Amino acid sequence: MNLVTVFGGSGFLGRYIVRQLASKGYFIRAVVRKPNEALFLKVYGKVGQIELLRGDIKDEKSLQDYVKGSDCVINCVATFFETSSQSFKNLHVSAARNLAESAKKERVNQFIHISSLGASSNSNSQLLKSKGIGEEAVLENFPKANIIRPSLIFGSEDTFFNRFAELSSISPFIPVVGPNTQFQPVYVDDVAKAVSLLIETNQNKRYLELGGDDIYAFKELIGMLLIEIKRRRIILKIPFLPAKIIASINDFFRVISGGFVPPILTLAQVKSLESDNLVSSGAEKFSDIGIVPKKLSIILPKIVSRFNRT
Ligand SMILES: NC(=O)c1ccc[n+]([C@@H]2O[C@H](COP(=O)([O-])OP(=O)(O)OC[C@H]3O[C@@H](n4cnc5c(N)ncnc54)[C@H](OP(=O)(O)O)[C@@H]3O)[C@@H](O)[C@H]2O)c1
Repeated sequence: MNLVTVFGGSGFLGRYIVRQLASKGYFIRAVVRKPNEALFLKVYGKVGQIELLRGDIKDEKSLQDYVKGSDCVINCVATFFETSSQSFKNLHVSAARNLAESAKKERVNQFIHISSLGASSNSNSQLLKSKGIGEEAVLENFPKANIIRPSLIFGSEDTFFNRFAELSSISPFIPVVGPNTQFQPVYVDDVAKAVSLLIETNQNKRYLELGGDDIYAFKELIGMLLIEIKRRRIILKIPFLPAKIIASINDFFRVISGGFVPPILTLAQVKSLESDNLVSSGAEKFSDIGIVPKKLSIILPKIVSRFNRT
């Protein structure tokens, strides 16, 4: 196995996957929309080991060219909010399906699709629903694909802890929707290691749910963060109904402003917070592939050290 083509390689998780694979000596083709902004990936490998190819996963006609000659294709592309050009449906369903189909046509040996815990075609959240339908579309077109479903991912570049830490530096209140919703946060490099291991050991048809060993309610995660950065802030617990109203207003103004209004809180996010985000009891998990996940309590100080009040 030599060439691994990664879509979404410049993203938060994708860059760790590229780094893991580069350290194992794989050649990597990262298909990115803005190669200039993905140049940092090059330093993860030796000269010529990592190729940046300009491309868009929505460009159905070019997908076969993008994956040509690959031994493995990895899909890390996703969006957490919709824009006029990137809907949940076109990115998580149509593009995922087309990529899997193209990989199959090009006789790619392995396909690894990154999904999310809670993804389900029955979900009330449009985000998780599209991820669930996307998984099904991938498996229909590449039946031996590996599906990876992480819980909330933490790491230096995460949006979760960094965003709340930033908020705490400007606001006395931290609004939390679904304070009791439970998560099993997972370290970004552990997810990347799992992906790398599946490739090194040439695994197919694995369906892994990846969460850390510890379970935290949303409000506990914020509490941990505030202790770590030594800030006393009021945690504002927002019930689901008002959160949905606020999110619908935010969604509405985002649409009519053509995306000018930022996605502070979306309805899809609120609805995804209505269910716990935990590894299911019968699922294949880290222990099944011999990885011991790192603890949030060990990594969190490094993630938020720049916000630390000394
Ligand atoms: N972060 C989490 O806590 C978390 C939790 C569970 C599951 N996941 C899943 O893990 C995967 C990776 O998430 P992430 O946190 O790394 O997201 P991310 O940082 O937003 O990365 C998404 C990547 O997709 C690329 N992309 C977006 N639209 C594209 C398009 N049309 N064509 C080609 N590339 C495109 C982005 O590149 P551009 O620079 O071009 O936008 C970026 O590199 C996703 O499937 C996500 O659902 C993440």
